[in-house]
Amino acid sequence: MIVDVKEMQNKAREGGYAVGAFNTVNLETTQGILEAALEMKSPVVVQMTEKTLDYAGGRAIYNLVRTIAECYMPQIPVGIHLDHGKSFEIVQRATEIGLTSVMYDGSRHNFADNLAVTKKVVDFCHAKGVSVQAELGNVPYLGELSMQEINWDDYMTDPGQAKEFVEHTGIDVLAVAIGNAHGFFRERPEPDYARLEAIAKVVSVPLVMHGASDWEADRVTEVINRGVSCFNVDTSTRLAFIGQLRQSLENGDETDLRKLLAASKDAVKKTVKEKMTYFGSAGKA
Ligand code: G3H
Ligand code: 13P
Ligand code: ZN
Repeated sequence: MIVDVKEMQNKAREGGYAVGAFNTVNLETTQGILEAALEMKSPVVVQMTEKTLDYAGGRAIYNLVRTIAECYMPQIPVGIHLDHGKSFEIVQRATEIGLTSVMYDGSRHNFADNLAVTKKVVDFCHAKGVSVQAELGNVPYLGELSMQEINWDDYMTDPGQAKEFVEHTGIDVLAVAIGNAHGFFRERPEPDYARLEAIAKVVSVPLVMHGASDWEADRVTEVINRGVSCFNVDTSTRLAFIGQLRQSLENGDETDLRKLLAASKDAVKKTVKEKMTYFGSAGKA
């Protein structure tokens, strides 16, 4: 059953657990995510970026997720979300396709510009019943910077600004930067838990952790206890898919594409199930 992402995250926050928001790009990744949700009886968010809308066709990938969720697992709450929309236009496109939850990511802009465009996005989306996640601070990407170059103070979410940002824009969900980073092994040696606590104290909306694909259970629990109710996961499922595909190709001469891709789908499913256990969403559907 397709549900409202914001409500799913609010419910997780109240229940003291988090949900996973997993990036999809194709049929098999979608199947891996949704089959994991079914087997774990877990609510789940399936999300897609602008590049994926271009790659797969926006309506095609949106309706693929929606159809699998509605036809094969009507008892499982599934949210569909635009991840890292970098412009007002891509948000607009996502809503035209049918998505009812979007992220506007103005984190590369200065505070005033991020605030202004986020407000414009919220006004547009709320008039259509679409909920909005935005990012304050900046969660860096693997490959853009070397570890030595990162001055973490430049990336962190400021709690005072977070309060002003949420109150002024009216966003529904806030993505925070507390030393988390996209890709593997890029994080600050220790997340800034005190900063997260300070943000959660002054901000009433659910908080999202991007780039925490490689976080083990202990860190996950620490941040859930301090107000995080959603984790975005892409790298670990992508690497599970690719790793299995590489192994399948190296180990045999299988020519049935379905068998090769089904093995990768199962690798995605295994990773997603492990994450759902860490996040505490298993059994919450
Ligand atoms: O954070 C975003 C995901 O890692 C995927 O990004 O689809 O733009 O490559 P992409
Ligand atoms: P990872 O690529 O580190 O899993 O982060 C995913 C993410 O934040 C997607 O928005
Ligand atoms: Zn992200």
